[in-house]
Amino acid sequence: MFIGIIGSGTMGIGIAQVAATSGCEVFLYDANSAQTEKSLLNLKQTLQKLVSKQKISVEKSEEIFNRIKACSNLSDLKDCDLVIEAIIENKEIKTKVFQDLEGIVSEKCIISSNTSSISITSLQAELKKPERFIGIHFFNPAPIMPLVEVIPGLLTKEKLAQEIYSLMETWGKIPVIAKDVPGFIVNRIARPFYGEALRLVEENIATPEQVDDAMRSLGNFKMGPFELMDLIGIDINFSVTKTVYQDYFYDPKYKPSLLQQRMSEAKLLGRKTGKGFYDYSDQMKEPSARSPETVEDKNLYSKIFMRIISMLINEAVEAKRLGIANDDGLELAMQKGVNYPKGLLAWGKEIGFSKISETLQNLYEEYQEERYRQSPLLKKI
Ligand SMILES: NC(=O)c1ccc[n+]([C@@H]2O[C@H](COP(=O)([O-])OP(=O)(O)OC[C@H]3O[C@@H](n4cnc5c(N)ncnc54)[C@H](O)[C@@H]3O)[C@@H](O)[C@H]2O)c1
Repeated sequence: MFIGIIGSGTMGIGIAQVAATSGCEVFLYDANSAQTEKSLLNLKQTLQKLVSKQKISVEKSEEIFNRIKACSNLSDLKDCDLVIEAIIENKEIKTKVFQDLEGIVSEKCIISSNTSSISITSLQAELKKPERFIGIHFFNPAPIMPLVEVIPGLLTKEKLAQEIYSLMETWGKIPVIAKDVPGFIVNRIARPFYGEALRLVEENIATPEQVDDAMRSLGNFKMGPFELMDLIGIDINFSVTKTVYQDYFYDPKYKPSLLQQRMSEAKLLGRKTGKGFYDYSDQMKEPSARSPETVEDKNLYSKIFMRIISMLINEAVEAKRLGIANDDGLELAMQKGVNYPKGLLAWGKEIGFSKISETLQNLYEEYQEERYRQSPLLKKI
């Protein structure tokens, strides 16, 4: 199968590696050819590491590398069966590329976007043949994270989602079909992990360290919200939150945090700038989970954990109610896309949906804010 990839940055080269590893011929194009050269050099090193760890043979690494062809023109993608776009997150620029591409590829070629936040329907609506367009959303790093959200837009032809689902399985991925809603599955459901954590700190209820410790020790999360925001980049995380908030017509549930805005303004962006919620200037010391010791700590940690987990479970229940994905899809998405230790629906059952509902009710009464409104399904589930 011939796969075209547009954009050879972080995601494009990762997706190219995945496709080439599963035997596809890959045509990789970027407007900046220096980026393609740089990414291919990095890929060569990555493949060498896999060889030295005995994950793949030398022959296999050469095969993978040789299957990826650097292209200097978009027209080099003319024979592709599927094109995956992974360029800058800008609707106008993406649309121009898709319109140019339509004049190059065959009628049968499937065109897709790896966008994290732009509506698939809004992108396909600008095309002559919108029915062959679909969202294929990989997670970073694409060769490692198993989840792929497959997102048909309103105009996508009926069987295409299933075809891409099957193709992603042959690429060794765990696909989940998602509705074309802001943030799709993961970036929508995960919002309170960051939002509620930021709020606890803004209100001086806890420090970032305490929030992270609570989520790691009581929730078994690999990383707490603040460590994770530092890793993702506080500006990137802030921008996803703003997009989801705007695209849900300013639903107060997704209201961004002023603290995060100030951190972005100050360029305290996390690991990439050496300082975010933590200081990385000394040495990259990995934080480890500390268990609460005093009774005050225990009470605080349990308050932090229950507040964040209740908000997350409420989001998952609401996503179930709206049919954003089926139950298995919702559970898999959070575990395979962002490494949650359990599916949120199963977690809700374990804690008790009535306890989740009670926690949200208390928050609602305390704050009188719509932010804490419950999914109508939460009381019935
Ligand atoms: N980085 C992530 O964690 C992540 C995760 C999932 C999805 N995404 C999405 O994937 C896409 C790419 O993100 P990224 O992080 O790889 O970005 P990136 O900045 O690393 O790479 C983007 C590449 O696109 C190229 N480009 C820009 N305009 C172009 C054009 N008109 N034609 C051809 N090439 C062009 C740039 O030269 C650059 O090399 C975005 O839509 C983003 O939302 C990113």
